[in-house]
Amino acid sequence: MFSKEIYQKRRNALKASVKQGIALFLGNVDSPMNYPGNIYPFRQDSSFLYFFGLDHPGFAAIIDFDENKEIIFGNDVEIDDIIWMGPQPSVKDMAAEFGIETVMPFTKLADYISTAKNQARKIHFLPPYRAESKLTLEALLDIKAADLKAYASVELIKAVVNLRNIKSAEEIIHIEDIMDVAYEMHTTSMRMAHDGVWEREIAGTIEGIALKHGGVVSFPVILSKRGETLHNHSHGNLLRNGDLLLTDAGFESPWHYATDHTRTFPVGGKFSTRQREIYEIVLAANNAVHQNVKPGIFYKEMHYLAATTIFDGLKALGLVKGDTAQAVADGAHTLFFPHGLGHMMGMDVHDMEDLGENFVGYGDELERSTQFGTAYLRLARKLQQGFVLTNEPGIYFIPALIDKWKAEGINSQYINFDKVDSYRDFGGIRLEDDILITETSGRNLGRRRIPIEVDEVEAMINS
Ligand code: GLY
Ligand code: MN
Ligand code: MN
Repeated sequence: MFSKEIYQKRRNALKASVKQGIALFLGNVDSPMNYPGNIYPFRQDSSFLYFFGLDHPGFAAIIDFDENKEIIFGNDVEIDDIIWMGPQPSVKDMAAEFGIETVMPFTKLADYISTAKNQARKIHFLPPYRAESKLTLEALLDIKAADLKAYASVELIKAVVNLRNIKSAEEIIHIEDIMDVAYEMHTTSMRMAHDGVWEREIAGTIEGIALKHGGVVSFPVILSKRGETLHNHSHGNLLRNGDLLLTDAGFESPWHYATDHTRTFPVGGKFSTRQREIYEIVLAANNAVHQNVKPGIFYKEMHYLAATTIFDGLKALGLVKGDTAQAVADGAHTLFFPHGLGHMMGMDVHDMEDLGENFVGYGDELERSTQFGTAYLRLARKLQQGFVLTNEPGIYFIPALIDKWKAEGINSQYINFDKVDSYRDFGGIRLEDDILITETSGRNLGRRRIPIEVDEVEAMINS
C-alpha cells in the first residue's frame, strides 16, 4: 500500500471535482465458486482500492461532498470468524491506515442513504459489474438491478477516470518495479518452448511465477500455438518444433497493478523464413508506435500508423495490393489486424473498463468507429503525460474470416486471396509492450525490454 497521504490526496482531488451530493462506493464481497464456502480468490474493486485502500471483502464507503465527510462502513469480526480466519484488526484501525477516522457498522449504510434520499440529495455511484453489488445497490437505492447502469453518475465516472488515467510518480515507480516479474514470466515461456512440451506446462509455470511473487495473473493466461484466436485460453496442444507460440500474459501485483505483454516465438528456437517475414512486419509496427507516440497526439493516429505499417509490409510480400492510405481507410488491414492497437492499463489490465470504455479511451472529443475491427479500438483519445497504455499490433490468419471475406468479396480489390490462402495454417503474431507517456515521448516500461528482436528471441529460447 501507499502512504495514507496518497489516499487522502486522491479523495481530496475527487472532492475538488465533484462538489455536491454524496458518492457511494461499494467494495466487493466474497463470491462462491461451486458451494457457498468455496469462494473465488477475493479481488477488491479497483476504484475502491484507489480511494480507500482497504483490501478486504464487505466494506462500503461514502464521501459526502456537502458535509466534507468520509465514512467507512464495515463490521468488526466476531469470535466465530476469528476461529476460522485468525485475529483481524478492527475496522477502525484498518480505516485509519488510509486516513479515514469515521467508521460505522455496515447496517448504518442503509440509514445514511435513506436520509440522503429523503433530503433529495444527489447520490453518485459507479456502474456495478458484479451481481452481488447490483443486488446491494438495488436494495439501497430502490433502483432495479437492470437499470443501475443507466442511473450511474456520469459526473463521478468522469472524475474518477480523469484521476486514474494519469498515473502518479509513485504508481509509475511501482509499475516499473513489477515489470521484472513480467520479464521472468515471458522469458520462462520462451525457454520452455521446445518440442514435446504441452502448452499447459508453460501456462501453469508462468502463472506460478506470478503467485511466487505474491500476486496473481492480471488476466487468464493466453498461451497457444493457435495464436490467431485472439483470446485463446485453452492450453491443450502439444508443441512441435517450428510451431509459433503466442504468449499474452501479465502479473497483477499485491497492490493490484497490472502488466500486459505478448511475445510470439518459434518452438525450438528458429524462425522459418515465412515466420520471420511476418514477424518483422509486426515488430516494425510496434517500434513505429513506440518511436512516434507522445503527449498531444491521438492514440487513434498510432492505431492507423500500425495499420499502415502492416498493410505496407504485407504488400511487399504480395498478400495485398493497392493504395495503402485508401486500403486502410476502407479497413482492408482488418482481415489481418482485426483489433485495436491498445488500451489503458493500471489497476485493471483494461483499466476502468467497468466504468465504460468510451469514457476511458475516447473522452468527449472522439466518437468510436463502427467499422469492423476498428470498432474494437479501446484507446483512441488524445494522450497525456502519465498515461500507461499498451502497444499491441498483430497479424493473424483466421481461416473463417478469410473464407467470409473471400465469399462475400469484402475489400477484394485489395486482397490477393490465393496468396493469403497459402497462409491458412500460419497462426498469429502479436507483440505487446506497456508504454508510459512521458513529457515529450513514450517509453517502454521495464528496466529490460522482454526479448523481441529475432536474434535475441532465438537466443533466449535456446538459452
Ligand atoms: N491481455 C489482453 C489484451 O492484451 O488486451
Ligand atoms: Mn495482452
Ligand atoms: Mn493488452
